[in-house]
Amino acid sequence: MAKLAFLGLGVMGYPMAGHLQAAGHEVCVYNRTTAKAEAWVAEHGGTMGATPRDAALGAEMVMACVGNDDDLRMVCVGDDGAFDGMEEGALFVDHTTVSAAVTSDMYAAAKAAGLGFVDAPISGGQAGAENAQLSVMCGGDAADYDRAEPVIDVYAKLVRRIGESGAGQMTKMCNQIAIAGLVQGLSEALHFAQKAGLDGRTVVEVISQGAAGSWQMANRYETMLDDQWEHGFAVDWMRKDLDICLSTADENGASLPVTALVDQFYKDVQKLGGGRWDTSSLLKRLQALD
Ligand SMILES: NC(=O)c1ccc[n+]([C@@H]2O[C@H](COP(=O)([O-])OP(=O)(O)OC[C@H]3O[C@@H](n4cnc5c(N)ncnc54)[C@H](OP(=O)(O)O)[C@@H]3O)[C@@H](O)[C@H]2O)c1
Repeated sequence: MAKLAFLGLGVMGYPMAGHLQAAGHEVCVYNRTTAKAEAWVAEHGGTMGATPRDAALGAEMVMACVGNDDDLRMVCVGDDGAFDGMEEGALFVDHTTVSAAVTSDMYAAAKAAGLGFVDAPISGGQAGAENAQLSVMCGGDAADYDRAEPVIDVYAKLVRRIGESGAGQMTKMCNQIAIAGLVQGLSEALHFAQKAGLDGRTVVEVISQGAAGSWQMANRYETMLDDQWEHGFAVDWMRKDLDICLSTADENGASLPVTALVDQFYKDVQKLGGGRWDTSSLLKRLQALD
């Protein structure tokens, strides 16, 4: 059992940190909004730090799940950042979805400070975090990954090292590219079912058992049909991810026409006020166009 820190207690980080504490690790949490850290300590035990540096002091491993590139920089190397509090040989594990560029910068900064850095973005949604069923895709030095794997395993269904530093974030981009078109397809199918006067639930019961079945269909069709959007993976975060995918594709020459189109659809959802809605709100956009 290890002394750990966890930075960022959002939709994903809050339950992930909880699983680590429940597994017997000694967890110190940090969250920008202190009330969430206080609630976490009241619920799970453990301790909280006033800054990322504070939380990271003496930790063998520091996990983070914050918002975007700037947030990651801030908690790693900003004022009172975690790297400053970590002892030589300690390991930073980043679960945030960020660009390959910031990952490369943080990996280099960690190395210079005698620390390890593993990029370890996640997939599986809020339910995956709450039920410890995340898919975790990692990049970094093999020895660092080997140390991180048993800890990450506490909230993972599957954890794997894909390659050197940055390979985890590149794999997460593949994940988001695969999801974007799929969610639009699912939204169009449910929209069409409604227009055709079919019962959406019965339609999904049948087609989910055939070739159209997907995680999105299984986990999102009920909330979509019930017009519920205030949960899950925020549209603002998805646009951040698609921006990373599209700019990386500009660099490596990949062609992503559907991803670019769906990104514009998510922009429409933001204009409808849905920046914090779940990504399945592409259906809401189609309904709004009626
Ligand atoms: N939700 C999902 O289904 C899902 C799935 C896979 C991957 N992800 C990725 O996981 C990451 C977190 O997602 P989430 O849904 O958990 O987001 P969230 O609920 O918005 O939580 C973000 C967390 O980061 C903290 N934070 C943001 N900026 C910060 C800063 N500058 N300094 C310190 N802390 C900061 C927030 O603190 P406050 O409490 O103060 O706002 C909050 O604890 C994102 O990169 C997202 O793309 C999410």
